[in-house]
Amino acid sequence: MNDLKRRPLVAGNWKMNGLHESIVIFQAIEQGSAALSKHVDLLICPPATLLNYFSSQRKTTSLSIGAQNCHSMDSGAYTGDLSASMLRDSGAQYVIVGHSERRQYHHETDYDVHNKAAAAHKAGLIAIICIGETKEEREMGKAIDVVRSQLRGSLPEGSFGENTIIAYEPVWAIGTGLTPTVDDVAEVHSAIRTELSFLVGDAEYEKIKILYGGSVKPTNAKELLSIADVDGALVGGASLNAKDFLAIAESYISE
Ligand code: PGA
Repeated sequence: MNDLKRRPLVAGNWKMNGLHESIVIFQAIEQGSAALSKHVDLLICPPATLLNYFSSQRKTTSLSIGAQNCHSMDSGAYTGDLSASMLRDSGAQYVIVGHSERRQYHHETDYDVHNKAAAAHKAGLIAIICIGETKEEREMGKAIDVVRSQLRGSLPEGSFGENTIIAYEPVWAIGTGLTPTVDDVAEVHSAIRTELSFLVGDAEYEKIKILYGGSVKPTNAKELLSIADVDGALVGGASLNAKDFLAIAESYISE
């Protein structure tokens, strides 16, 4: 558990799932969020088509809303894309950038992620910057090097505790049911924290949250979330079920 300089965050990434009828899941999470809000922040990132609807239906501030991607430009001839300011205008407070599925299927580079995070900051959104090694990279003993290098390449100038969150998501753990060992998570999070001290300086590096993501479930949440320097979770599959998502967040109150 962290040293209380950082308030934990449990964030749900719905990926390409959810229609208007999914408001019932959002509302169930919102209901549960009130009792948790003393201990942990909660965030749901639905598809962009639901941002406006969910934010208009939301009754409390104990559940935040975020987007899953943004363009690096603020406006212009980019058919089909959405800018950070449009997402903000639709009710988003956060945006995930550089998720491994974007890096893999849309060939996003660290440089692209850097520019998207900068655009998010400019629009007043909190950027959740995702980094993480592949299975091959871990097997070759390169996980720490890869994660450090992604962090250096993806973090824009002007990143600080208020506008930036890092999510460490080993690519091989996403949607597979596999998770790294407690020692491996601790090692990577500590390396990220150290790298942040070089990148953002002494005043801010301890203020930036570092989430763990990849097959977080109610059954393993407590163990993963109690690791040093793990400030919360980025949850995919289990965030589509209100009970499971809330059970993960409850790891912070059932001490
Ligand atoms: P998962 O996804 O929890 O389904 O493994 C995590 C993510 O992609 O953010």
